[in-house]
Amino acid sequence: MIKLCVNIDHVATLRQARMTIEPDPILAAQEAIIGGADGITLHIREDRRHMQDSDLFRLRECLQVPLNLELAATTEMLELALKARPEMVMVVPEGRNEITTEGGLDIRSDIDGLTAFVDHITAGSMPASAFIDADTEQIDAAKQCGFTVCEIHTGPFAEAVLANNCSLDCEEVLLEIERVQNAVAYVLEQGMQCNAGHGLTHGNVRCIASIQGITELHIGHSIISRSIFAGIQQSVSEMKTIIQEVQHA
Ligand code: PXP
Repeated sequence: MIKLCVNIDHVATLRQARMTIEPDPILAAQEAIIGGADGITLHIREDRRHMQDSDLFRLRECLQVPLNLELAATTEMLELALKARPEMVMVVPEGRNEITTEGGLDIRSDIDGLTAFVDHITAGSMPASAFIDADTEQIDAAKQCGFTVCEIHTGPFAEAVLANNCSLDCEEVLLEIERVQNAVAYVLEQGMQCNAGHGLTHGNVRCIASIQGITELHIGHSIISRSIFAGIQQSVSEMKTIIQEVQHA
């Protein structure tokens, strides 16, 4: 069964808009777990625009499900990961001016730097995941660097759905699904775990959840957006039900 890891950064985004103490992402994580989240993900950005270091350590203390830490491959973030010891370190590219993570890591252009980073993470007994586009050359490069997990970027699929009036079966969307499908198969052939995420919603997740071989889906924005109207427990539970229905079909 595919696991659902819920990214709670957007709760901290709302809190930071007022630089106050609510809404508390730790409470959000607890609600998400009651709703069925199998893991909780947070991204500590260099500019600390949403999650703060104190959130990471508070989550570390109280979570009963795996904690995934998303970060850029910098010395500062390495130190943070080694201190917090999350169940998985998810390496992503980071740009100061981006609204969200915009593309996968270009691992091929920094094999040496990423190999050294992954070596430190692995020496700390944590698995390292590479967030990459559905591209065999990047998958090969991830393997070469020592990553044991690849997360395939589903953003291009999600954008194709939006560009086609939320159609899930037009040619452009089907092509993106096929790309993700081929990438998942290739990651598995290389002996790595394959996760997927970005831009997945209650409306489009079926197409990705039906791909064989994915271990975890990482979903944030759509779940937190729906929570405004339905509550976090309900929003997570709806997402989980959709994923399970597809798996049982
Ligand atoms: N996976 C990675 C690596 C991400 O950077 C993000 C966004 O923080 C997600 C998954 C979740 O994307 P979304 O918020 O669009 O569901």
